[in-house]
Amino acid sequence: FSPWIIKLLQAFWEADRENTSLKLLIGLVPIYALCAKLCHTDGVCVFKCLVNKDTEYCRVGKESVLITLGYNSALLQFRSHSEYSTFSNALKNCRNQHKEHSVFSQRTEESSAAQYFQFYGCLSQQQNMMQDFVRTATYHRAILQNHIDFKDKVVLDVGCGSGILSFFAVQAGARKVYAVEASSVAKYAEILVQSNNLSDKISVLSGKIEEISLPENVDVIVSEPMGYMLFNERMLESYLHSKKWLKSNGMMFPTFSDIHLAPFSDEQLYMEHYSRANFWYQQCFYGVNLSSLRNAAVDEYFRQPIVDTFDIRILMARTVKYTVNFTEAAEEDLYRVEIPFVFQVMQSGLIHGLAFWFDVAFVGSLVTVWLSTAPTEPLTHWYQVRCLLQTPLFAKEGETLSGKVLFVANKRQSYDIQIVAVVEETGFKSGNVLDLKNPFFR
Ligand SMILES: C[S@@+](CC[C@H](N)C(=O)[O-])C[C@H]1O[C@@H](n2cnc3c(N)ncnc32)[C@H](O)[C@@H]1O
Repeated sequence: FSPWIIKLLQAFWEADRENTSLKLLIGLVPIYALCAKLCHTDGVCVFKCLVNKDTEYCRVGKESVLITLGYNSALLQFRSHSEYSTFSNALKNCRNQHKEHSVFSQRTEESSAAQYFQFYGCLSQQQNMMQDFVRTATYHRAILQNHIDFKDKVVLDVGCGSGILSFFAVQAGARKVYAVEASSVAKYAEILVQSNNLSDKISVLSGKIEEISLPENVDVIVSEPMGYMLFNERMLESYLHSKKWLKSNGMMFPTFSDIHLAPFSDEQLYMEHYSRANFWYQQCFYGVNLSSLRNAAVDEYFRQPIVDTFDIRILMARTVKYTVNFTEAAEEDLYRVEIPFVFQVMQSGLIHGLAFWFDVAFVGSLVTVWLSTAPTEPLTHWYQVRCLLQTPLFAKEGETLSGKVLFVANKRQSYDIQIVAVVEETGFKSGNVLDLKNPFFR
């Protein structure tokens, strides 16, 4: 800036503080346009300044930002609202502006979020998900086979990762996609957007969905927010939160999810868990008696949900289903999820626990597409999840097993799970408390 412009801008800033009409002043300042991004796509740096939590700035009009630089101020005017959004979101991130107040930060321990986004910042983790063929191909099919829901529409991709779902939306004809990503993989998504020549269609916005602003409301929201046992990671809440940007008749892809549960019998799995804990039963481990910790070890191992797959013949009853409708649910609905169950036991034997899996449905205008993680379907990276009971329950064919599963959200982006089960006819009762954050990958 030449000194006189700085001066003018300084006056402008002062005027703002004194609540003078901004509109008038905008008319008076002739040369305040600074082209678009801080660092232009061709790599030429057009503007550079230090931003910290004390940096002051304000929005001016629709597409400009006034930012203080020491004793001076600069007015940055962007070419489009989208570029303005990208910049102001980055600015908010730098200043951690919404951190203390955002829904996300209030419900998440900082250490958990740091570890979580570091994990997703790795290309290898994004690759892992992209290479889950069932997952990625089903999303592709769900979006492309419902192309009329995307044609000329504005789409929001919540937690875009590599941006893969945003590319699918463009392939289906989307006019504009806002791809929001909180981890550092956002920079790679941006590189992919540029190298695929889609900068005019896809805007990558770096930040948490709870903390960023979009320039406009959207017609469709796409996301892949499912974790182990559906709920792990608590990203479903971010997905539901994003509905604040959805037009009133907008669509959610996926639209709803069914979580299924069924009692299972698996003596081997149960014994395996006990054997692992039995390490602590030793009374002379290099001369040290470990046995006082054996009960604690059993408790710890039994608190771990088991992630693996199994033959459906171990299931002792038809499944009970619990539906989360993403178009209707609010994020608070997922703070505490209670699933009551009543199973009619189909074969006599010992019940060692409950098995869980989920399906999601994409309800489009043309077709409904299902993505299933059931044990009867091709395996996905979600596998299935089993929760053991501390004491197995004997039940005879025709008897009724009833009880409930309670999911209580915690600040580690996961859930504490409580299970209570009783065989109605005999009164045999069992249960368990599990920590979904710490599963056992078998
Ligand atoms: C399961 S991955 C899916 C990535 C990509 N959409 C795909 O289908 O391959 C979820 C992504 O959402 C991001 N994410 C999670 N919570 C978020 C939030 N609150 N705001 C923005 N991004 C978030 C994660 O960093 C991660 O990259």
